[in-house]
Order: sequence, then structure tokens, then C-alpha cells
Amino acid sequence: MADLGLLDQLRREPDVEAPDLVAVDATDRLLLDEAAGLLTTAGPGAVVVVDDSYGALTLGAVTAGARDVRVHQDLLVGELALARNAGRTGLTGTYRSLPLGPRLADGARVVLAKAPKSLDALRELTEVVAASAARDVTLLVGGRVKHMTHAMNDVLGSGFTDVHATLARQKSRVLVARGPRPGVPSSFPRRQEHPDLGLTVCAHGAAFAGTRVDAGTRALLAALAEGAPDARTALDLGCGTGVLATALALARPGLTVLAGDQSAAAVASAEATAAANGVGDRVRVTRDDAASTVADASVDLVVCNPPFHLGAAVVTGAADRLFAAAGRVLRPGGQLWCVYNNRLPHRAALRRLVGPTRVAASGRRFTVTISTRR
Ligand SMILES: C[S@@+](CC[C@H](N)C(=O)[O-])C[C@H]1O[C@@H](n2cnc3c(N)ncnc32)[C@H](O)[C@@H]1O
Repeated sequence: MADLGLLDQLRREPDVEAPDLVAVDATDRLLLDEAAGLLTTAGPGAVVVVDDSYGALTLGAVTAGARDVRVHQDLLVGELALARNAGRTGLTGTYRSLPLGPRLADGARVVLAKAPKSLDALRELTEVVAASAARDVTLLVGGRVKHMTHAMNDVLGSGFTDVHATLARQKSRVLVARGPRPGVPSSFPRRQEHPDLGLTVCAHGAAFAGTRVDAGTRALLAALAEGAPDARTALDLGCGTGVLATALALARPGLTVLAGDQSAAAVASAEATAAANGVGDRVRVTRDDAASTVADASVDLVVCNPPFHLGAAVVTGAADRLFAAAGRVLRPGGQLWCVYNNRLPHRAALRRLVGPTRVAASGRRFTVTISTRR
């Protein structure tokens, strides 16, 4: 069984903490239990962890005997929580964080992964592990039963000859893949031309909307065409694949463009998108949480298509977090241009966290608003 003493010490912070939100879930415990025998015998540097939520998998693997664990976490908050939990449990220095690529999985014999949200993210993980891990690698992908589909087995099957599922426990299940197929090509970042927008979009597997341009993003681009003409510095807040940042840089040669996202896949995608459109030197992309690296009152224009999930208070909070960040980084008189689904109640938060807010465009599905910083 997973080491309960260690796991009980782990926290979610700096992510939101609340009595009903856990730092270690049933999937973490099941993955650690399924991998226990492999972890003790893998040898130094042979264990890899992907998308550990807050550190349970990495620190659990270390406690089970793994040495020099290599880790990739798409979300910055997970990386920060892992570092804090390692400090809290005296395990700092037992792992290394790396980008998703050959250096992460080179020669790996055990890979523990939380199932990513999208099939493309799972496909990129499959390609990386199949191409660079040891021939005897075991890839274990764990998730909630309700989120796991047969399509995930098919994606794993494109890179591995043997894929099977474990029995479910506490509504979680693990897919186990062995036998990497030789010559699995790397298909990321993917690339798609959008002649109607004059843009090429590049995307890693976990980036929002992939190489498509989201309908809300299109609505914002259309509304913004003539907007904020005097802006000298702009920030694409939660940039995803960098569509908004790149379009702004292309349309306005005098504009300094910043772009930020908490997701490693988004940042790598936005850099690739800017470069593919010839503006790689004009778009500065940073991985940060809610523009934490951008100075207060330093930006004239913020563009934002915030994360949207209906229903969960914590997730409405995710959009509010970006609005508060916009209010902080905009200089007085600067503008936040925001797009959101008509059903979402963002107007009050925009007024409270940025300033007076009016509608710039409104269609069947999306509203584009302009909030002016007081
Ligand atoms: C709806 S997507 C929009 C992406 C892109 N701007 C577009 O229009 O295609 C929202 C993005 O916000 C990012 N995001 C969410 N919360 C964030 C935070 N606290 N800090 C930075 N980025 C965040 C997500 O990773 C995601 O890429």
C-alpha cells in the first residue's frame, strides 16, 4: 500500500485549499500501489512521473524506493505544490522537473501518469514514451473511471503493443501499456494554417483548442480589429496557443506583446505559433500564474478568453483570478478586452476587479466586453 504517513502530510497550496478538496486522491493511491513492485527495482533515474497533481506520485515513488525521479507537470501550480511538499517532507532534491520531450523519458523503465484531460495530450505522452523509454518500460496511466474511454486505450495502442486496464478501485482505474512500438513518429507540435485569419497555429497536445481557433477567440479578434489603437504594450492573459498574441503582433508592428499561461503545453505552443508567423522576436511568452511576472500598471491592453466551466464555484474563481490580474497589470485608463459565453455571469466581476465595463460586441453565443481600468 502507498505510504500513508507521507501522503497524509501533503497539501495543495499554492492551489486553493478547502475541506472538500484533496491533495492526494484515489487515483494517486491506486497508481502507487499498482507500480509498487516496479518502483523498487527500476534503478536510479529510471522512474518518470507525468502530471502529478500536487506531488503524491513523485514523493510516493521516492518513498517506495525510486531515485532521481524525472517529472513533467503541465500546470505550474502542480510544480509549485510538489516543490513545497518535497520541502515539507524533507524530500527536496529527490526529483528533477523537465519539459515533455525525449530528455524526460530517455531510458525510463516506469512511467506514472495522471490521465490528461484531452486525447491529444495522451497521444503526445504516448509518442514521447514509446520513442524514448527503455524497451521494457511500463507506462501506467491512472484516472477516474467516469473520465476514461476506450479511445484512450486506442491512443495508447498506437504506441504500445500491449494495453490493458486494471480493476477499478474507489472509482479509479489504471491503464497499463507495455511493448513500445518501434519508429513511433513525433507529431507535436501540430500545425494548421488558417488562411481566413492569415495565421498558422501550432499546438502541443495539452493546449486549449489544439490547432483550431476557438469561436470565442474569433469573436474577440473580430471585435478588437479597430480597438485600443493607441496601445503600446499588450498582454495575452491565458494565451493558450498564442492566437491572440500572434494576431496582435502581426496586425500592429509597433506593439510590444506579452503572453502568459500556467500550462507548459500552452507556453511551448504559443512560442511555436509566434515563430511560425514570423513574430517570434516580438511576442514574449512566459509561464506564470495569472501574470505574476508582469509588473503592476505596466500594460495598456489586456486580451483574455478566460477558462470557462459552468457550475463549479472554484472554476468561476479561475476566471476571476485572471480579471484581478488584468486589473493589477493595466495602467489607469488601460483596457481589458474579454470574451465569454453569454451564459456566464462575468460582468459584475469585471466591473469590480477592473473597472467600468461595456459590451463591444454580442452574438448568439459570445459577448465581448471592454473594461477600463480606473
Ligand atoms: C479558454 S483558454 C484560452 C486560450 C487562448 N487565449 C485562446 O483564446 O485560444 C484559457 C487559458 O487560460 C489559461 N489559464 C487558466 N488559468 C490561468 C492562470 N491562473 N494563469 C495563467 N493562465 C491560466 C489556461 O491554461 C488556458 O490556456
